[in-house]
Amino acid sequence: MDPFLRLLRYATPHRAVIAGAALAMVVYGAANAALAYLIKPIIDDVLIAQRDMRAIAVAILAVYLIKGIGAYFSSYLMEGLGHRVVMVVRNELFRHMLDQSAAFFARRAVGQLLSRINNDVGLIQRAVSETIGDLARESLVLVGSVALLFYYDPKLALLCMTGTPVIVYPLVRFGRRVRTVTRWSQEAQEDMSHVAAEAFAGHRIVKAFGAEAREASKFQGVSWKLFRTNLKVTRVLALLPPLMEFLGGSAVAAALWYGSRQIAIGRLTPGEFTSFLAALLFMYAPIKKLSRVNANLQQAAAASERIFEVLDVHTEVLERPGATALPPFSNEIEFKDVTFAYEDGHGRSTLRGVSFTVRTGQMVAVVGRSGAGKTTLVNLLPRFYDVTSGAITIDGRDIRDVTLASLRSQIGMVTQETVLFDDTIAGNIAYGMPAATPEQIEAAARAANAHDFIVAQPEGYQTMIGERGQRLSGGQRQRLAIARALLKNAPLLILDEATSALDLESERQVQQALATLMMNRTSFVIAHRLSTVRRADAIIVLERGRIVEIGKHDELVARPGGSYARLHQMQLLESKTDSRVLKAVDPKPKAESSR
Ligand SMILES: Nc1ncnc2c1ncn2[C@@H]1O[C@H](COP(=O)(O)OP(=O)(O)OP(=O)(O)O)[C@@H](O)[C@H]1O
Ligand SMILES: [Mg+2]
Repeated sequence: MDPFLRLLRYATPHRAVIAGAALAMVVYGAANAALAYLIKPIIDDVLIAQRDMRAIAVAILAVYLIKGIGAYFSSYLMEGLGHRVVMVVRNELFRHMLDQSAAFFARRAVGQLLSRINNDVGLIQRAVSETIGDLARESLVLVGSVALLFYYDPKLALLCMTGTPVIVYPLVRFGRRVRTVTRWSQEAQEDMSHVAAEAFAGHRIVKAFGAEAREASKFQGVSWKLFRTNLKVTRVLALLPPLMEFLGGSAVAAALWYGSRQIAIGRLTPGEFTSFLAALLFMYAPIKKLSRVNANLQQAAAASERIFEVLDVHTEVLERPGATALPPFSNEIEFKDVTFAYEDGHGRSTLRGVSFTVRTGQMVAVVGRSGAGKTTLVNLLPRFYDVTSGAITIDGRDIRDVTLASLRSQIGMVTQETVLFDDTIAGNIAYGMPAATPEQIEAAARAANAHDFIVAQPEGYQTMIGERGQRLSGGQRQRLAIARALLKNAPLLILDEATSALDLESERQVQQALATLMMNRTSFVIAHRLSTVRRADAIIVLERGRIVEIGKHDELVARPGGSYARLHQMQLLESKTDSRVLKAVDPKPKAESSR
């Protein structure tokens, strides 16, 4: 379907507005024709016959007033409609993008997505609000003028119309070119937005590696590309008005030549001929505007194509029709022969034949080398991805059969990379529960060992923490994330530990906070620390996507040559040094860390 027609469908609910605008345009077009018509009495009656011109003066005033009213309402209604349509498209686009699966975001850069929302939608905005209004209004002006021309002298009018195909042909030709070149230009803007967004987000690394000049030249590269394509667009667009002007001039010259002979033989009065010429000249402005209409529409079509491309992508994790709410988790979670392959994982399965069961209140530790598939495994539970084969059930119900909202409301999450928002500390803690009271927020913060550092901030709980929590330390960010999960108070908990980045003191605080968080909950913990793993009711050892061992700490350690036993040996050495330091830092270390 033509992208432009598809875009127009967004306007169909606003029939009343369109009808109002159309009426205003008809008034405007008629007033224009009336003005040209009034020139006849001015010349024939007032100038030549010397009659009183008061009536005509009043008529001119009235026509201008009506024309003004028509112009105002047609612009206001049309442009208003344009803005409204564009707002709806923009909101739909944002929501649609946000609904997409993790795979969608893994494939696209933030800067590129932003560019579609900003640049492409912006281009459509211009087209819809200005161009469509112009198209309708100026066409009506043309119709009015042409009608007047035919009224005076059909032959002369036809003569002037012979130029039309000469005008229309290049417009259509140019339109196609404009569409292609506009697409290039929008793509170049997207690249530019991507380069800038990436450099800003990674500004520390850029500086630390002294790569400012390299990033700047990367930016200049894409910026230059944009300049070149914009130049191409301009080259095409700038040709149109002079071309129109020349053709219009030719029509006037032809009319003058023919018209003067008509006056000589008395078939037209001088007033009629002047009025005819005026009508012809009045056509000039609309034609000049209309000459750009097709080009603008083509630009909008190029932008719409890019927007609909995104709107037509469906990678959302979908709810089955008739999905029902998942009742509160009460019994067990089962992974049944789960296999999972990333879409762009080159055909390799990241998880293979994973089966295990977790009962309420248990804590499962997932261990394994980096890249073994631990994060992937836990991401399947809230359905960030769906299993490729096999199934995951909660209390016997396949998680694909329940509503996403009911499933996710039962899961608390602390991710490997802490994600915070540019909001206050309180706002971040209450992210999953916006109605939380300050007391609840503080209780969560205390339980997460975060209260002390929060009150030390300049504005306490109301301190803004900057984009992604930049104004906080790594450990502080993690504790806020834990407080956020605590406040949500979900029965299931997923913890992707990332404690390696912390110093011992903050790690101890984070560990304590995590221990509080896991109390009375069913938890999946991707654990790097012996202290956490030891307490687990079951340890799942993953190796290249397969479960190679599963059991309690003592059983697994006792297996000579087992994967876990090896891992344990390595960690034991580490933890010995750790606990010595811990003791030095804190005379009364927590029970787990000294066990
Ligand atoms: N979005 C993705 N698309 C394709 N492959 C992916 C994607 N995410 C992860 N992988 C691949 O899947 C494998 C498992 O990744 P995963 O993040 O689950 O590892 P992990 O066990 O959590 O490792 P770590 O301990 O380093 O966090 C890796 O080989 C990785 O390259
Ligand atoms: Mg991971």
